[in-house]
Amino acid sequence: MPHKTFYIKTMGCQMNEYDSDFLAQSLINDGFSPTNNDNDADIILINTCTVRAKPEQKAFSLLGRMSDLKRKNPRLIMGVVGCLAQQKGHELLERFPQLDLVMGPREIGRIKEILGQIYADGEKIVATHLEPRPPHPVSCQGYFNGRVTGYLSIMEGCNNFCTYCIVPYVRGREISRSPEEIVNEAKNLISEGVKEITLLGQNVNSYRWEGMEKWNFVTLLREITKLDGLLRLRFTTSHPKDLSEELIQCFGDLDKLCPHIHLPFQAGSNSVLDRMKRGYTRERYIELIDKLRAVRSDIAITSDVMVGFPGETEQDFHMTLNLIKRVQFDSLFSFKYSDRKGTVAAKMDDKVDETDKSVRLSVLQNLQKKISLKKNWALEGKQLEVLVEGYSKKGGQISGRTGSNKIMNFTSNNNLIGRLVVVTVNCGLLNSLQGEMAPEE
Ligand code: 5AD
Ligand code: SF4
Repeated sequence: MPHKTFYIKTMGCQMNEYDSDFLAQSLINDGFSPTNNDNDADIILINTCTVRAKPEQKAFSLLGRMSDLKRKNPRLIMGVVGCLAQQKGHELLERFPQLDLVMGPREIGRIKEILGQIYADGEKIVATHLEPRPPHPVSCQGYFNGRVTGYLSIMEGCNNFCTYCIVPYVRGREISRSPEEIVNEAKNLISEGVKEITLLGQNVNSYRWEGMEKWNFVTLLREITKLDGLLRLRFTTSHPKDLSEELIQCFGDLDKLCPHIHLPFQAGSNSVLDRMKRGYTRERYIELIDKLRAVRSDIAITSDVMVGFPGETEQDFHMTLNLIKRVQFDSLFSFKYSDRKGTVAAKMDDKVDETDKSVRLSVLQNLQKKISLKKNWALEGKQLEVLVEGYSKKGGQISGRTGSNKIMNFTSNNNLIGRLVVVTVNCGLLNSLQGEMAPEE
């Protein structure tokens, strides 16, 4: 095959970033080279998201724009992968006739075979089976060189079927990867220079493996933190209903486990939580937060929340605000509920008016801004350990993250990338900290 180039555009969550890295490594192993310029690529893959209406709209408009490239270069192979591809399947080929390939997240292990088929007979392919196991990792030496942080998917899919959520329909049922494969992949990342690993799964804490030995998420965490060369471990996303006492205890016991948990609560009213089928109450959620803080007082807590779930009353919304005040999150991802076709909530009556949703979202975000700022101000004068990742967007400054996952920018003349350094916080801002490093000996 003549030398060909590929370009991957990734939208959506960390799992999509992980999948895009998998695709890139597969293509490199197959003789393709990455390019940053979509204009001269022979293959373009767009990794999409459909979790809410807004990312779906973004994916559609990107697909429209990218389709023009195919008009200019008919030999270009263009594919859509990820959750939108899984959800829409053949429909995407009809709406965007320039596409050659539509491939769901469970099918990415077949990329080489599918491209071979497209090149051989020019047929368009839709690959959207949900049964395949996650693919075995591909080994592409040097791919992660220069990265300080890396993702590692430990399980795929979700069994929870929260009533608003499309994920179980587009990522399939939960399947965990074998501990051996996970540990080997972690070792590979470390050998390429990665210092901090984030374990990924739609529902990481329900990780389970029943081989010769039984493993759960805690066994896996304990094993991975033993790896030499690894400085920090994180994981995301956890479900409150599966947050065991044992897992909470890990934040007290495991030095490498960062003091941060992302624990989506979604709503503060028990009747909304019940209709969302979340499997916990607001009281239970608060109890979990108190337990986490008892084990590790400096743990940062972040979360996802939505406003305007069908039937959400003003009183329900106030229960959400009330929970935010009680918990004092470090930061929040907040969304307006949007119908996802095929979910239970999409068929519920009593939809909340769009204007009301917007007002609620802005009230909630204003409250959270005050809390985030107050939390970051409280860190002023404190010394925090920072893993240096690179340079800040504004330029000139060095940028890294604290264990609590806050961005810290500071000045230094030394090349500190990949190192853990201690930085004093000078100023707490809304989304980052400004610091100063003590002179090195
Ligand atoms: N509408 C709005 N927000 C949603 N999320 C998931 N599904 C929907 C939906 N239909 C949010 C949840 C989830 C995050 C990834 O996206 O808060 O935790
Ligand atoms: Fe969606 Fe609920 Fe599964 Fe999270 S736990 S992916 S919100 S169904």
